[in-house]
Amino acid sequence: MNKLIVSLLLTLGITGLAQAAGDAKAGQAKAAVCGACHGPDGNSMAPNFPKLAGQGERYLTKQLQDIKAGKRTVLEMTGLLTNLSDQDLSDIAAYFSSQAGSVGAADPKVVAHGEELFRGGKLDQGMPSCIGCHSPNGAGNAAAGFPHLGGQHAQYVAKQLTDFREGNRTNDGDTKIMQSIAAKMSNKDIEAVASYVQGLH
Ligand code: HEC
Ligand code: HEC
Repeated sequence: MNKLIVSLLLTLGITGLAQAAGDAKAGQAKAAVCGACHGPDGNSMAPNFPKLAGQGERYLTKQLQDIKAGKRTVLEMTGLLTNLSDQDLSDIAAYFSSQAGSVGAADPKVVAHGEELFRGGKLDQGMPSCIGCHSPNGAGNAAAGFPHLGGQHAQYVAKQLTDFREGNRTNDGDTKIMQSIAAKMSNKDIEAVASYVQGLH
């Protein structure tokens, strides 16, 4: 494995946060209000609402804690998490994590460039590939909290990469791993990799 990725993995590994284990059954009822946007089973229909189905539990719990604490801004969810406890958030995360995620399709016009970036990065610019953390099939690494990307809506993925690049999403920890990667990507790169991810499984 590439040295840069190994050192990044080591740094990320020691920044984990403690969290209660979730109960998927209890989470299903608590997640009813989320279904309007994210789909009852976490497979949202709208391309700007992320799919949560099959996403890693640790990653989901961290995002919910970050959104609740205002470390990540999601205007559509304003106030929704205020009255939910840490246990509620873990249960909801466990529920969506236990659902099977659906997969979309990549745009054939840009898929080749997307695959090249996803699998190879831009090593001449010090940008690692995505597969070291998000895995070659996009499944991520649930234990490490590296999100599952395969099948995610391209529009949502492109917005996240742009938000990381522009400093509008900054909850990627002290390593700023995604902010530093996105900083090396053009709009065309982002469009291509997001399209590739949408069809990946
Ligand atoms: C009115 C629509 C709406 C509702 C209702 C809603 N969300 Fe969201 N949610 C969004 C949008 C839009 C985003 C993505 C914002 C962005 O672009 O960063 C999001 C992002 C998320 C994320 C981050 C996903 C990721 O891959 O990083 C999680 C987790 C999440 N929502 C969970 C929930 C839960 C749990 C509920 C119910 C308690 C809920 N949402 C209710 C619209 C909604
Ligand atoms: C060294 C590990 C690492 C590498 C390499 C990496 N990522 Fe990430 N990525 C992460 C972590 C960790 C997060 C979650 C940050 C957080 O907690 O909010 C993340 C989050 C994301 C998200 C947001 C997911 C969501 O549901 O909102 C996207 C999109 C993403 N990465 C795409 C990529 C792409 C594309 C590449 C390659 C160009 C890449 N990543 C390379 C570790 C990595």
